[in-house]
Amino acid sequence: MQKLILICALDRLSDPGSYGFSVEAGGHRVDGFVVLRDGECFAYRNSCPHTGSPLDWVDHQFLDIEGALIQCAVHDARFLIDTGECVSGPCPGESLESLQIRVEGGEIYLLGTA
Ligand code: FES
Repeated sequence: MQKLILICALDRLSDPGSYGFSVEAGGHRVDGFVVLRDGECFAYRNSCPHTGSPLDWVDHQFLDIEGALIQCAVHDARFLIDTGECVSGPCPGESLESLQIRVEGGEIYLLGTA
């Protein structure tokens, strides 16, 4: 059975913008982040495919300066916002692990299992 786990209010994010979170889902801690771009939300686990490190070095900051790509602060890998695919840096062709979310009533939820 699917369960909605609150991440944050949609208006917590600028567009483009990002927000890091850590929630309990089905007995596991999920560390992730959401990205809002052109009114659309995407979510990924906060683990770089290069070494497994968290991507952010400042809280909630996952985008490059232009807000065009997701950026790993450790070795500067860049990822497409909509697919999580690495397009430059040390892990080309690898991808961030996407997380299922739902936006409902102005809130962003992670879809977990009960
Ligand atoms: S840990 Fe992300 S680029 Fe190396």
